Amino acid sequence: MRILVLNGPNLNLLGRRQPEVYGRETLADIELLMRNHADALHVELKFVQSNHEGDLVDAIQEHLDWDGMIINAGAYTHTSLAIADAITSVQVPTVEVHLSNIYARERIRHRSLLAPVVWGQVSGLGYRGYLAALDALQRRLTDEAAGAG
Ligand code: DQA
Repeated sequence: MRILVLNGPNLNLLGRRQPEVYGRETLADIELLMRNHADALHVELKFVQSNHEGDLVDAIQEHLDWDGMIINAGAYTHTSLAIADAITSVQVPTVEVHLSNIYARERIRHRSLLAPVVWGQVSGLGYRGYLAALDALQRRLTDEAAGAG
């Protein structure tokens, strides 16, 4: 089972970027926590971070035969029809993650262009949201495999 973990702009600055909003964990800390958890679940993870919209679209397209995707598109969540279209195009089950509760913040962050095209969304649980997304995807994929077998 292969799951892509995609992080968008400014998430490379986690740890120093508004820790009161996004937490003290760095992206490397989150990657380590997820890798440890994924090992226990027998899931293969690949991490990609980019500050560039087109690179995120490329990464989604390049992994179209992967089993699942976890995406925190950062500010592109609220603006990027291109990323939403890419998710729709590849049809890979996707969970959208936000460290902060986007619905408790400025109005412009309340709307996600990705929400209508993803399987589910986790918002406001900090780094734990990534682990919750991994658990949910792994369970969904396991359930589907059992159903198909
Ligand atoms: C974010 C929320 C976005 O509104 C913001 O632009 C980010 C991070 C989050 O993880 O809470 O960059 O996606």
